[in-house]
Amino acid sequence: LDGIAYGGDYNPEQWPREVWDEDVRLMREAGVTMVSIGIFSWGLLEIREGEFDFAWLDDIIALLHENGIAVDLGTPTASPPAWFFAQYPEARTVTKDGVPMGFGARGMVSHSAPEYRAAIARIAGALAERYGDHPAVVLWHIHNEYGVPVGEDFSPHSVRAWRLWLQAKYGEIAGLNAAWGTAFWGQHYEEWDHVGAPAAAPSTINPAQKLDWARFTDEMLRECFRIEKAAIRQHASQPITTNFMANQHHGVDLWAWADEVDIVSDDHYLWAADEEGEIGLAIAADLSRSVGAGKPWILMEHSTSAVNWQPRNVAKRPGEMTRNSLSHLGRGADGILFFQWRAGRSGAEKFHSAMLPHAGTESRVFREVVDLGAKLGRLAEVQGSRVEADVAVLWDFESFWAQDLEWRPSEDVSHDERIRAFYERLWRDDITVDFALPGHDLSRYRLVVVPSQYLLTAADAANLTAYVAQGGTLVVSFFSAVVDENDAVHPGGYGAVLADALGVRVEEHLPLREGHVTGIRVDDHVFAADIWQEDLVVTTADVRATYTAGPAEGRPAVTRNVHGDGVGWYISTRPDADGLRAIMREVYADAGVDVPGTPDGVETIVRRGADSDYLVAINHGTEQVSLTTTGTDLLTQADVRDTLVLAGGDVAVVRLAHTAHRGDR
Ligand code: GAL
Repeated sequence: LDGIAYGGDYNPEQWPREVWDEDVRLMREAGVTMVSIGIFSWGLLEIREGEFDFAWLDDIIALLHENGIAVDLGTPTASPPAWFFAQYPEARTVTKDGVPMGFGARGMVSHSAPEYRAAIARIAGALAERYGDHPAVVLWHIHNEYGVPVGEDFSPHSVRAWRLWLQAKYGEIAGLNAAWGTAFWGQHYEEWDHVGAPAAAPSTINPAQKLDWARFTDEMLRECFRIEKAAIRQHASQPITTNFMANQHHGVDLWAWADEVDIVSDDHYLWAADEEGEIGLAIAADLSRSVGAGKPWILMEHSTSAVNWQPRNVAKRPGEMTRNSLSHLGRGADGILFFQWRAGRSGAEKFHSAMLPHAGTESRVFREVVDLGAKLGRLAEVQGSRVEADVAVLWDFESFWAQDLEWRPSEDVSHDERIRAFYERLWRDDITVDFALPGHDLSRYRLVVVPSQYLLTAADAANLTAYVAQGGTLVVSFFSAVVDENDAVHPGGYGAVLADALGVRVEEHLPLREGHVTGIRVDDHVFAADIWQEDLVVTTADVRATYTAGPAEGRPAVTRNVHGDGVGWYISTRPDADGLRAIMREVYADAGVDVPGTPDGVETIVRRGADSDYLVAINHGTEQVSLTTTGTDLLTQADVRDTLVLAGGDVAVVRLAHTAHRGDR
């Protein structure tokens, strides 16, 4: 598409035909350029096995096309029809407790069932054969949110596939015994057929087995994606995507998935209980961009106002939808879409907001939808521009999977929470962040943050150490580099693989009791710190903060180590926000990262284009602010000379008069 795609999921099959005409008329009024259709309509497209009814889909695609609205065509495989389960009851997914899932929801199917795999190839192929040449169809949308609501499957189909997967991975059963450490509790295996899924058990199941199970589940889902992709590719050449859930579902490894799609797309919903949801949103947007190697991506779904599936579904306030949309766009999205176009009258999602709400066109939401469409229409030239960052935060799904297992030293330690804490610091300092894997080439970053990455392989640790030696600044948070890829503690002890970079040894973990707040002294200031301390032995590092209380009282809490041309910082506790700010100020100085001094609550990001750079500015606060910049505000066409005045809650996109310097936000 030329310009920023705008639209949403559209479910015409839920409405009588007379509504369709009104839909497309209002879509045009709202500036909609693309809709996603067919995502959940398998039962209405293949009404009996092998018997297709494409008439309604033909009609709606034609109608959209006549009205200049492009189609993102879904494959409906996230919700198999009733006939499928009646015919193949053994293809139902089974829970950890052995319960087969019933019909009437979505999901419900075993990713490993051969009948399911045959059926998805058939429906995806039939759709591609029919619409592969249709000029309205610009994108294929395979499935919906892989891994949700069903990822893990404990059915007999899945257990069979699991054993084959393990045999392919380990070759000999001795390899599995070694990797899983099965000498523990006498779990030793002689036969592949004796290896089961980690289903319900009386005590904690072998964590290495569960880690492999997470990898297996992810790969089975990806195999299903590949089956559909191959079926589509036989007939169609449009780009293919599937909608991710960055930062909302950690069950699939988005780095691996991003390699499979032609363009990354993501769904993001604010978590209503989080009063600063815009920070979680920014994490999701930056992750979506990062997994796709920085290329523009599509925000496939978000909400105009409230969702319907949280305990308390808080409606968005005036302007919030626009701020959310611009934040995604600033962070690299070239498409802004919603779930969904028209609010549904029936079914489980009738209380979900939509572009066209139950209240109709005479509503705040619809007026804002029309206004957003007009705004995005003025931003066409931003399409294709990129975001560059000087700082990377590590994000490794394997480490999530491992750390989320049971029997860890403290349930208070969370990979998610540490990512959010460091990201939040960077967000408040208005510093743009990429996410990265520890094995990536990190040399273009001035600063790399390792937020409690429990699983870190020796090879990845060597990569991080080389990054420091070559001049990088690394900040490592406690409970990092504890285990290898088999969830086995590294020889030499916790964190030993980062000992050269950090200049410390972790002798013992010292988790704290619930509510036990201790302190750290940084220069003359004492900051609160909780949940965790460590007994650190300093080898080559300098001590930058000491514990003022708790089991490690008087001992090192934060250290700074010069290694080669770079610096490795270690933070062995959870400091409060002020403490982290004080430490990060020193870290930024080591890394040569500038803090732009943006007013509080204002988010700015630069997108760099071939001809121009664009400053996207979002004021989340209620007060008017001024930013220093020069160029043209694309939303108002106003000249901006030195000062951009942004009212409370407002947004601006400025085509900069001068090319931004690398490192400008
Ligand atoms: C998404 C899903 C959509 C819709 C939406 C509601 O996760 O892909 O189909 O259910 O949530 O928020």
